[in-house]
Amino acid sequence: MSSGELRNAFRAFTTTCALITTDGPRGPNVMAAEWTFNVSYHPFLILVAIDPRNRTHDMVLESKEFGVSLLAEDQAAAMGLAGHYSKADTDKLSSDVFETFPSKRIRAPLIRGALLNAECRLVAHYPAGDHTAFLGEVVEFSVDPEKAPLVLHRGSRRLGERIPRIPRVIVAATPMEAGPGGQLTVVGELTAEPREAQPVQVEVRDPQDRTVSAASTVTARDGTFHAETRIPASEDPGPWTVVVRSAGLVGRAHVGVSAARAPRGPRT
Ligand SMILES: Cc1cc2nc3c(=O)[nH]c(=O)nc-3n(C[C@H](O)[C@H](O)[C@H](O)COP(=O)(O)O)c2cc1C
Repeated sequence: MSSGELRNAFRAFTTTCALITTDGPRGPNVMAAEWTFNVSYHPFLILVAIDPRNRTHDMVLESKEFGVSLLAEDQAAAMGLAGHYSKADTDKLSSDVFETFPSKRIRAPLIRGALLNAECRLVAHYPAGDHTAFLGEVVEFSVDPEKAPLVLHRGSRRLGERIPRIPRVIVAATPMEAGPGGQLTVVGELTAEPREAQPVQVEVRDPQDRTVSAASTVTARDGTFHAETRIPASEDPGPWTVVVRSAGLVGRAHVGVSAARAPRGPRT
């Protein structure tokens, strides 16, 4: 792997523009951390990966708390300053690119104008390669639903238009490697409107494309469906197809039928 390939791989991720705030004996600080994610709903946990060479790293370890501000699309300058300078030699929060306000339950300040501001208590930290993964429990937060996020993907970006879901029938069959005579569970989702109470026809087709079993059901409120069917006991091994029709749309799943996996019948 060349360093160019690695760089392209890293830049293929879409990441968050977050600022991590801390407070310590040498005063408050802020750093940029694109590796910031929520990783649990209850409790509300945020994970941030921090390079041990950053001042923020030891400031989090010492204070056992940190602030997280998810930046809005008009705050790219704040991300740049926080990410290109260190508290080792620069008091970044002196700049007017940051407008701060006091937290309610931690010492570190928060960043005004952000999409989300969260106050975190450190609950765990783990080595993560050349970074340390800090896990913080959110003890207080505020969110501004009007703000649009700043994101990173090969540079700073704003999000584009929301992509509408393409109308289709999405299907999966379980098990994906079945035996003749075996039960087959077919689940999926109709993404076209209306989604609710739509008839669903399920056909199981053998390698010669002959329909060998069928079932029917209707979609639930959210468009999902569930049907049970069976691979006939006498059929040939090979690649089989489950074809599902609903609302004039067709979806498919593949099932490998192997004689070796046939369930044992009664001995004769
Ligand atoms: C866009 C951007 C994203 C960054 N993401 C991270 C990150 O996720 N983790 C990290 O440790 N450093 C990250 N950095 C680097 C730190 O923000 C940088 O080293 C900073 O100077 C550390 O400040 P401090 O020494 O005051 O803590 C990022 C920098 C930029 C510009």
